[in-house]
Amino acid sequence: MASVPNNRFTQDEARRDADHVSFLKYRRYRWLWIAVILSIITALGYAFIDQDPRPNGGSWYGYTLGTIGLGLIVWLSLLGVRKRRISEGQWSLKAWTSAHVYLGLALIVVGTLHTGFHSITWNVHWLAYFLMLLVIFSGAYGLYVYAKLPTTLSAGRREMTRGDMLEELSTTDRQLDAAAQPLDREQADLVIAALGQDIFSGGAFGRLTGAYPGCKTARALSGFDENGSDTEQRVHRLLSQRADQLGLIRRNLRTKALLEVWLFIHIPATIALLAALLVHVLSVFYYW
Ligand code: HEM
Ligand code: HEM
Repeated sequence: MASVPNNRFTQDEARRDADHVSFLKYRRYRWLWIAVILSIITALGYAFIDQDPRPNGGSWYGYTLGTIGLGLIVWLSLLGVRKRRISEGQWSLKAWTSAHVYLGLALIVVGTLHTGFHSITWNVHWLAYFLMLLVIFSGAYGLYVYAKLPTTLSAGRREMTRGDMLEELSTTDRQLDAAAQPLDREQADLVIAALGQDIFSGGAFGRLTGAYPGCKTARALSGFDENGSDTEQRVHRLLSQRADQLGLIRRNLRTKALLEVWLFIHIPATIALLAALLVHVLSVFYYW
């Protein structure tokens, strides 16, 4: 019988996982199909329409692809605005996000065909192109962490909010404080250092990698013998409990950091892309 709750746990996790990126399956992958069809039609056009003297952004077909690409990019950029206005129905946020992902990926095809596979030169046209790829790949990475998030948060544990985790930690800290009273100076200092450590320190590096090499709790733990005196054993047990609780909080912080960090690329790169495209379009019209 003991396996029943476990099974439910796994099922719950699976459901939450699916829910988190369920927009991908919106209306039986409607937007995936639209994106695939758009890619096929534009690729067939590229293969069969005679572009004189050779395929490039300046032929009529090149202009068509460029215009579709620009239209898509402007529309995709509006997701930020749309996200802040919630509604249900045909154009729910779910539909928007689904379309966002698939049409965003289709841009790889449309944008690349538009360039006519000219050799890469370092100018504003190619800057626009690479910014577009940067936005797309950062988006794909964001999607990946979205899909990973729920499992990492509840790995092997019951569901806990960050508040619950901090509360458990402060209970352990009170017990540690009391248990450490009989210790000699040197060992007491180790415990005091662990208790005095700011659990949110470690900087961006610690948050993103989950590595905290200077962790004072880990250092204190190594100063106690788990087979030593009663006091030592008790402090050792409480310190390792503290290390586990810190580990959980840090995993939680790491997941949150990973979930946000890509947006620091996705959003600024979108703005840079729009600026580069404006210059690209103005410059081609200027030299026309
Ligand atoms: C998805 C958005 C777009 C991207 C990423 C993009 C990028 C590029 C790139 C990389 C080239 C090749 C430059 C070269 O051969 O060295 C190019 C060419 C060109 N693009 Fe775009 N473009 C986009 C949208 C547009 C739009 C909306 C227009 C005009 C309405 C446009 C007009 C042109 C023209 C006329 C060329 C040919 C320039 C030449 O051969 O010198 N593009 N584009
Ligand atoms: C050039 C194409 C793209 C542009 C211009 C673009 C732009 C944006 C913008 C402006 C946001 C709103 C961010 C915010 O305000 O929080 C956003 C969100 C997002 N984008 Fe993109 N994006 C593009 C392509 C992609 C691609 C290809 C993917 C995935 C494969 C993707 C995945 C996402 C995700 C998952 C979000 C967050 C949605 C949410 O928070 O609910 N994007 N994008």
